[in-house]
Amino acid sequence: MNRSTFLKTTAAATAAAVTAPLDQLFASGTAAPHQLPALPYAFGALEPWIDARTMEIHHGRHHQAYVNNLNVALATAPEHLKALPIDDLMRRIGEVPADIRTAVINNGGGHANHTLFWTVMRPAREGNAPVGRLADALTRDFGSADTFFSAFDRAALTMFGSGWAWLASDAQGRLLVLSTPNQESPLMQGLTPLLGLDVWEHAYYLHYQNRRAEYVTAFRRIIDWDAVERRYAAI
Ligand SMILES: [Fe+2]
Repeated sequence: MNRSTFLKTTAAATAAAVTAPLDQLFASGTAAPHQLPALPYAFGALEPWIDARTMEIHHGRHHQAYVNNLNVALATAPEHLKALPIDDLMRRIGEVPADIRTAVINNGGGHANHTLFWTVMRPAREGNAPVGRLADALTRDFGSADTFFSAFDRAALTMFGSGWAWLASDAQGRLLVLSTPNQESPLMQGLTPLLGLDVWEHAYYLHYQNRRAEYVTAFRRIIDWDAVERRYAAI
């Protein structure tokens, strides 16, 4: 069995193992509340900065597992919570019953964070830089784009263990950099995440091993600033 066949076989086995109980949990003809979104580009589109195999495993196994486990956790949740889009569910985490709240934070956060992550990256380009009203706001709130990048990189590099670095906005459009541990989302703090960098080892270890700083630096080349700007404009 070659590597490609192995990946497909193990992924199919994993999906089958999880699908059976999900079908039973939502057997009334209702689809599971959350689904894995398709990647908006090919697995290899971000090479050489993020390799295709990392993307394939990260999206197809890690993100899929968050979605599956979230659906399992929500099986006993009130119907109005099952019907919420994932970002709204994370904003309203305080309404989630205590017995499933940790599972929803871990797996709902994982689903929300990765869904954003895929959409704020694109193939590398020269001179990649913030654009539009967001670029103006970065200068207003950080002093310069370089100062923003310093703060963002520091957030990514000083996160001990697994977590995320974020550029986020408050309700008034003020920008801030923060980090969150594990799969916690800025949405849980009433903030709107605009740009997120996954610094779990599963996001970079195959290519960079323990060299997180190289991965953080490489990320600048593949940020889709047009997508980040659109997120900011929607606030
Ligand atoms: Fe991840």
